[in-house]
Amino acid sequence: MTTEKIRELIARMTLEEKASMCSGADFWHTEAIERLGIPASMVSDGPHGLRKQDQEGDHLGVNDSIKAVCFPAGCGTAASFNRELLTSMGATLGNECQAEGISVILGPAVNIKRSPLCGRNFEYYSEDPYVATEMAGALIKGIQSKNVGTSIKHFLANNQETRRQSSESRVDERTLHEIYLAAFEGAIKKQKPWTVMCSYNRINGFYAAQNHKYLTETLRDRWGFDGYVVSDWGAVNNRVEDLKAGLDLEMPTSLGANDKLIVEAVQNGTLEESVVDTAVERILNIIFRYEENRDKNAAWDKDEDHEMARKVAEETIVLLKNDGLLPLNENDDIAFIGKYAEAPRYQGGGSSHINSHKVTSAMDVVSGKSNIVYARGYNDDEDKTDETLLAEAVEAAKKAKVAVIFAGLPDAFESEGFDRTHMSMPNCQNELIEKVAAVQPNTVVVLHNGSPVEMPWIDKVKGVVEAYLGGQAVGGAVCDILFGKVNPSAKLPETFPLKLEDNPSYLFYFGEGDTVEYREGIFVGYRYYDKKKMDVLFPFGYGLSYTTFEYSNLTVDKENLKDTDTLTVSVNITNTGKMAGKEVVQLYVADKESTVIRPVKELRDFAKVDLAPGETKTVTFTLDKRAFAYYNVQIHDWHVETGEFEILIGKSSRDIVLRKTVTVESTVKIPMVYTTDTTVGDVMKDPRAWEIVKPLFANGMFGEGSEANVGDAAAEAISEEMMEAMLKYMPLRGPVSFHGGVSMADVQKYVDQLNALDS
Ligand code: BGC
Repeated sequence: MTTEKIRELIARMTLEEKASMCSGADFWHTEAIERLGIPASMVSDGPHGLRKQDQEGDHLGVNDSIKAVCFPAGCGTAASFNRELLTSMGATLGNECQAEGISVILGPAVNIKRSPLCGRNFEYYSEDPYVATEMAGALIKGIQSKNVGTSIKHFLANNQETRRQSSESRVDERTLHEIYLAAFEGAIKKQKPWTVMCSYNRINGFYAAQNHKYLTETLRDRWGFDGYVVSDWGAVNNRVEDLKAGLDLEMPTSLGANDKLIVEAVQNGTLEESVVDTAVERILNIIFRYEENRDKNAAWDKDEDHEMARKVAEETIVLLKNDGLLPLNENDDIAFIGKYAEAPRYQGGGSSHINSHKVTSAMDVVSGKSNIVYARGYNDDEDKTDETLLAEAVEAAKKAKVAVIFAGLPDAFESEGFDRTHMSMPNCQNELIEKVAAVQPNTVVVLHNGSPVEMPWIDKVKGVVEAYLGGQAVGGAVCDILFGKVNPSAKLPETFPLKLEDNPSYLFYFGEGDTVEYREGIFVGYRYYDKKKMDVLFPFGYGLSYTTFEYSNLTVDKENLKDTDTLTVSVNITNTGKMAGKEVVQLYVADKESTVIRPVKELRDFAKVDLAPGETKTVTFTLDKRAFAYYNVQIHDWHVETGEFEILIGKSSRDIVLRKTVTVESTVKIPMVYTTDTTVGDVMKDPRAWEIVKPLFANGMFGEGSEANVGDAAAEAISEEMMEAMLKYMPLRGPVSFHGGVSMADVQKYVDQLNALDS
């Protein structure tokens, strides 16, 4: 519907009708106004399948939802590093939405994995904002290609479940832009999600729902977002102020209470009616965008979509360790051990919980094969070793040629609503792995978990396969990887630290009361581990393959560029092994010298290439200013410092194979702001400025003859370096204290001259 028509509709609405459009009619629908032909519009969770509730609604995944297909969760899909795959998965989800009459699917969820402890990490993509925003953008592209909306969530700085409805994330401006906003920015600018969901928490003093700075100034004014902002379910705290800040739709419904407040505020003059009109216009725009593009013939076949879920799962499984044992020969005597071989943990708990129409386990796949035996090994309803199950498992492992243990995290260990308190797997599973590995040298561990775990047994097993939470078809995908029918190609979108205490947010993750300070700043994930040169269990970007790849011929189209230019980088990748495979080529940029504190390197692009044995392909990347920039808080914008940068091509963040240096010249001059506190050293950086203030220091730093007055011993100790340093770090007001005749007012006059230099 055209903007004009929507405005005509709004003009015909009463104030009460307009207010009612600004909140849900029930748990999942917007309000209908029949007399004006405005239909109720259904939204639904998401993000990795449909949680469509056609009866009792809830936001915790408690009541039933329709039978649907559960795709791998965000933790896994991000590991695929395959944008096209996510776009196809999105198109499948979009079609499901069309068939089910859902106008907006509530996802993807892009919150940064600040700590491995966050209970919802399984839904989120990465510790790196570029990966998060690119993968989310790819999914949005696919879903919206079917004329169904998405709701990228949870905006903003919502990185824990503890006190999720009241906590205040205190994050400095640069960190917000480089890490937490950046996770949303690319997807919002490039893929234009129809809606954005604001989070429950506060950011620097204001609830996300009431945060004009981010909901309006950043989202709309800077990034050009033109859809509606919806609250997370129950995140509205002050309906009128939220509306003013830019929160259009309240969900679910306050049963009219908040609508009444909107009406009253307009009537008593504390809220402009135009603010309500704008919110209604945005909401109607999306409702009609969907209505007018309904695919009346849309239908979905759950079995077909199950196959799609399997295809996606195959690319989300990361091969973490392989001492030559994998792939296995499926005709060997193999013991499949562990409850998750029969009942995989394939999704997380909470609002993303899907009522799967079927689940394929690894045991389902190998059923009927007499060479593969099963032993349950443990129960996961309580963390207690069942000695009988353990003994049976050890026996089965002893008799077999290979033992494959299916382990990971039980539901009780990670979920929406609460955070983990440690990074361990259940003791009963760790014990099982130790005991089996003690009798069976050929042991492989398959992990089903949504977030990193510690692996105290890592040196005792020959293989580790990270299956993440792989969706309802995960069993088939895992077996394809184990038996080499599919070559693993996923890489970790997060670091697996050796232990929880190594994580940069460890000391202050949960905060004090409601206050959570993001003191690690921009040093999240590999940005921290790299800077500290720390050993990790598995680095960001890491993952093995059954074939080998060689990188060559890294070229750049120019070695000198301005920050307004783009840089084209290309590199050749060859499959030097015997099996077809896919490689994730990673491009990092390192600022070689900088006046600001920066990470050692940052991921700026990636590509996934499919290569037959012996085949070579050229991958080309285009970098723009943003690839070299940091967020400058003085100009409140991205800035590139003139200087040398390294273009690094890596197989992982810790395996850089090729590098090239380019020089980037800044076209933006950041004006120096001088005060009486500016140090001499900083003034000296501009010779013109130094010339101006030189007379202030003409008498020597501590007054005439000061050196002659010190005793011999002291004179020996006063080196030239020390005198230089003393001068360099002295504020311009220094001479006021150190020699008479100069007043603060005099210094201020010099400062004024300095500030006039470039104005
Ligand atoms: C979650 C959202 C979800 C909503 C609706 C909230 O509790 O945080 O991610 O979309 O409920 O179920």
